[in-house]
Amino acid sequence: MVRNYDADRPVAPELVDKLLGYAVHAPSAGFSQGWDFLHLGTPEEVESFWAATTVTDVPTSWLDGMRRAPVIIVPLSHRDAYLNRYAEPDKGWTDRDEARWPVPYWDIDTGMASLLILLGAVDEGLGACFFGIPPERTDAFRTAFGVPASRTPIGAITLGYPAPDRRSASLKRGRREVEAVVHRGRWSDRPR
Ligand SMILES: Cc1cc2nc3c(=O)[nH]c(=O)nc-3n(C[C@H](O)[C@H](O)[C@H](O)COP(=O)(O)O)c2cc1C
Repeated sequence: MVRNYDADRPVAPELVDKLLGYAVHAPSAGFSQGWDFLHLGTPEEVESFWAATTVTDVPTSWLDGMRRAPVIIVPLSHRDAYLNRYAEPDKGWTDRDEARWPVPYWDIDTGMASLLILLGAVDEGLGACFFGIPPERTDAFRTAFGVPASRTPIGAITLGYPAPDRRSASLKRGRREVEAVVHRGRWSDRPR
């Protein structure tokens, strides 16, 4: 994840379109494809995003770097696309009962699409960061961009050419290695 960008280096629209093209090739349950992407690419649009979503306690150093990103993509998940898709004859869940979904595949699939944008950005020499929209700012975000209640912003992605960056302090936690997370043949409790 990159949290500081070269504000003087715009991203070619064709490049953003290429990344969005990767996103729509993500896998999705029942091929429901219950995702939309809000693309903000003008300085006014990007400024409106920060005006709507910024909370007062966010660190200035984080915000300053993130605000330099010339492009923001907001992946939106669409639960009803899944409930409707799975009510079709080949699936048959006509009750549209959300309890049938032990995990929200609409959010998962939109997350998978987001990862393709992040990976594509690396391939293209860009930087990107997936980050959360504070829940108390979601309504303001919806109002600013006319996003209907049926769509959930699962986060947002800044996009641009990377500038010198400070890595996340969270990285001090260290990566959980394969042997710490893989349970071979049977669940095993481990201290790590
Ligand atoms: C669901 C999700 C939410 C995240 N939210 C934030 C965030 O709000 N702010 C931020 O700076 N980074 C956020 N990150 C980035 C993580 O901090 C980052 O992926 C992690 O520290 C590992 O660093 P790396 O991706 O550069 O390897 C988020 C990542 C994910 C997957």
